[in-house]
Amino acid sequence: MDAVRDSLWSEVDRPEHPALRGEHRCDVVVVGAGIAGLTTALQLARRGVRVAVVEAGRVAGATTAYNTAKATALQSTVHSAIRAHRGTEAAQVYAAANTHAVAEIARLAEQEGIECDLRRRPAYTYATGASDLPAVEQEAQAAREAGLPITFSTVVDLPFPVAGAVKLDDQIEFHPVRYALGLAAALVRAGGAIFEGTRALRLREGSPCRVETEHGTAVGDRVVVATHYPVWDRGFYFARLEPHRSYALAARIRGDAPQDLGINTGQPTRSIRSYDGRLVLAGEGHPAGAVAGTGPYDRLEAFAREHWDVAEVTHRWSAQDPVPYDRFPMVGPYTPVSARTYVATGFMKWGLTGGTFAGTVLADLITGQDNAWAEALSPNRVSPRAAPVLGKMNLRVGAHFAADRMVRSQVEEVDEIPSGEARIVRDGVELSGVYRDDDGGLHAVGLRCTHLGCLVRFNGAERTWDCPCHGSRFDVDGGVLEGPAVRPLPSKEPKPPS
Ligand SMILES: Cc1cc2nc3c(=O)[nH]c(=O)nc-3n(C[C@H](O)[C@H](O)[C@H](O)COP(=O)(O)OP(=O)(O)OC[C@H]3O[C@@H](n4cnc5c(N)ncnc54)[C@H](O)[C@@H]3O)c2cc1C
Ligand code: FES
Repeated sequence: MDAVRDSLWSEVDRPEHPALRGEHRCDVVVVGAGIAGLTTALQLARRGVRVAVVEAGRVAGATTAYNTAKATALQSTVHSAIRAHRGTEAAQVYAAANTHAVAEIARLAEQEGIECDLRRRPAYTYATGASDLPAVEQEAQAAREAGLPITFSTVVDLPFPVAGAVKLDDQIEFHPVRYALGLAAALVRAGGAIFEGTRALRLREGSPCRVETEHGTAVGDRVVVATHYPVWDRGFYFARLEPHRSYALAARIRGDAPQDLGINTGQPTRSIRSYDGRLVLAGEGHPAGAVAGTGPYDRLEAFAREHWDVAEVTHRWSAQDPVPYDRFPMVGPYTPVSARTYVATGFMKWGLTGGTFAGTVLADLITGQDNAWAEALSPNRVSPRAAPVLGKMNLRVGAHFAADRMVRSQVEEVDEIPSGEARIVRDGVELSGVYRDDDGGLHAVGLRCTHLGCLVRFNGAERTWDCPCHGSRFDVDGGVLEGPAVRPLPSKEPKPPS
């Protein structure tokens, strides 16, 4: 049987919430109902603030549903990377904020009665060979300096030998969608409102602020933008965040599934856990929009089959996460001059804890309480040590803009396009992307991304049009799957065969 092309975590019933129609007034409007938006909204509602969450799709229907669902302060080699880009103090803030987030997830799950299969497990960052060992040793040193009670081990719960591993006890694995739906239910119980199927199109900052959507407006004294990649360009996030895509699968295996949370150093990444006796494996990351076929899934499956007795791959999914140029999340005022708008982004594929500490930081800032991590996390910081990375990122985007001008037609006639595939077709000066579905139907869209105009590319693994510049994604009919774009690609008439 073919694997389900969806996340293992998506197989849950989601209670429906209405779309926003007309005007809704509250104290704080939160845009985005992933873990960052929901946690922020719940933290605020628990402090007596009137909150409304505006969600383009479904609650926990985006990245929060497409991950490996580990909540841990030990995250591959993150502390060494932060130390290199921002120094030891920043690594200490990151370790403290993530340690808080792990405890907070457990606390909220218990206090709000959320059944999300939460279990305490040790987390490991391991090296398989001697060449990767120095990275593990460096991470051990950086994590220890950052204040984490790590130990060093050569014994890990994996069916292959490792050269060495950093270990952090008492971390968490859980079901991220059940947890997020539990946060949403708690928010409603605390008096908050949730609007689904409501894409925010414009933000007008003022007193009050107005978030305009297709059929209504949410009005509040403050606005939190928790849309994953920030959807409005003020603040130049698009020049400072690079989305990276990764792939995952779940497999039924014969024999014992790994009980602990493992991730290797070195490439390719292999992030490992289990759920309900199934192996959950992720990795194969690359910058978003780099065209990918099914190769990443094939390589993950080959790794699974090499080390476990795989009976069946049941699910496969992929997602992306924005990585800031200075390897540190961005949580706080939207711009240096924003007094009323805030953002939470840049979680570097560790946003289940990142989105959780963001909730605490933003609730503190909005309710006027001190927060010890807010200054380091401020999106408006300057990180001179990371300036070369910033330069490289923007050169890459510039190269995409330049290369776009030279794109040629890939077929003369649309009847050359095989089922399940897409091709670029030039019609005069216009470029179209034409996809042929499994029933032979043609779907044609304009290829200029509605964010800032880069050319989107077909992602054969997901059957989507992905933008290499800032990671917007569109379905084969042009509908927005993921921002920063908020408007669909224009639909086109497929050019008939001549
Ligand atoms: C393969 C993979 C594995 C991962 N594994 C882990 C892990 O083990 N542990 C961990 O901590 N992290 C992990 N992550 C990262 C984690 O999943 C994300 O960082 C986190 O879910 C981001 O949450 P979020 O709330 O910021 O975004 P999302 O969950 O994407 O939520 C943003 C919401 O905003 C909505 N939205 C967007 N635009 C608009 C708009 N214009 N109007 C209204 N709503 C809008 C979207 O529909 C979406 O629901 C992983 C990521 C990947 C890619
Ligand atoms: S996402 Fe920015 S141009 Fe496409």
